[in-house]
Amino acid sequence: VPAKGPPGPVRVPPYACQRPTPLTHPNTSLSEALEVLAEAAGFEGSEGRFLSFRRAAAVLKALPSQVMAPSQLQGLPHFGEHSCRVVQLFTRIFGVGVKTADRWYRDGLRTLDSLHEQLQRLTQQQRAGLQHYRELSVPVQRPEAEALQQEVEAAAVDILPGATVTLVGGFRRGKLHGHDVDLLLSHPQEGLEAGLLPHVMCRLERQGLVLYHQHRHGHPEDAARRTRHSHTMDAFERSFCIFCLPHPPGAAAGGAHRRAVRVDLVVVPVSQLPFALLGWTGSKHFERELRLFSRKERGLCLNSHGLFDPEQKMLLRVASEEDIFRHLGLEYLPPEQRNA
Ligand code: TTP
Ligand code: MN
Ligand code: MN
Ligand code: MN
Repeated sequence: VPAKGPPGPVRVPPYACQRPTPLTHPNTSLSEALEVLAEAAGFEGSEGRFLSFRRAAAVLKALPSQVMAPSQLQGLPHFGEHSCRVVQLFTRIFGVGVKTADRWYRDGLRTLDSLHEQLQRLTQQQRAGLQHYRELSVPVQRPEAEALQQEVEAAAVDILPGATVTLVGGFRRGKLHGHDVDLLLSHPQEGLEAGLLPHVMCRLERQGLVLYHQHRHGHPEDAARRTRHSHTMDAFERSFCIFCLPHPPGAAAGGAHRRAVRVDLVVVPVSQLPFALLGWTGSKHFERELRLFSRKERGLCLNSHGLFDPEQKMLLRVASEEDIFRHLGLEYLPPEQRNA
């Protein structure tokens, strides 16, 4: 059908968990620009502006076609006066296909480079910090994440036969690179997962894989309470790690140089695994909206430990992520459609 002018407004449901959000979409530069504004607002401590920009960005990611004119934003949820004006500014001044996000990115890099040029002015410690920052800011590629998952799984299974290690976070949503690697450790027999993590860390340390790690004990007695009071942070046993990986093939030959990768290891009892899978797959915005939807529209409390019905005063039992969507009366969205 030949179109006369830009396509009209589309109907978009208000919650990110009510609509599919693919990894790639036609409004990247616009959504990235709004996300930069959201980040800046959040950094300033202005939670309200952070949320409005973040929600508007998420709506753009779910649109089927490129926004060519501000009129196309009419009737979209979360496009209040401010976000509309921002988009209007972008579309008018820079034209769409705006390189605003690119420009910001380049500005950031330039700042960092200028800092590098002044290395001689920095203290030893500042230099080390900058170097580390640089290393960690190199994105992790999917093959590296998968190789790491296999290393950790091999160690876990060797220590505890039947142990499982699941790659979650952005990689489970289909991302090709990420800022870290998120792994869930579990065992099909409830209780056997206890005590596994310190042994796995020891094994990996002996293999020379670990640059740094910080262990946090779990608080199993807290899990149910946290579900009732919808805490954002979960109470799983966890390790915050920096692993060192060989440079990816094809990278500049750095000899003995290895690089740093952030890894999160989380221990999950199998009864809570569907909730932890859902919670740790993200995106963060998808999770936030899913929990808000549960509370506001269904009167249920959802987190990475469980789903609680405050009226019946009971935790709902599930065997899979699909069950959780069913309990909430939502169409199932596979991980690759949770990129809000
Ligand atoms: P992240 O690793 O921060 O984000 P990501 O994997 O989506 O993206 P990136 O590629 O940049 O790494 O978090 C992964 C998910 O885990 C996210 O949905 C939030 C969730 N999460 C928890 O549930 N509890 C926690 O304590 C933390 C830190 C994250
Ligand atoms: Mn991650
Ligand atoms: Mn992240
Ligand atoms: Mn993480």
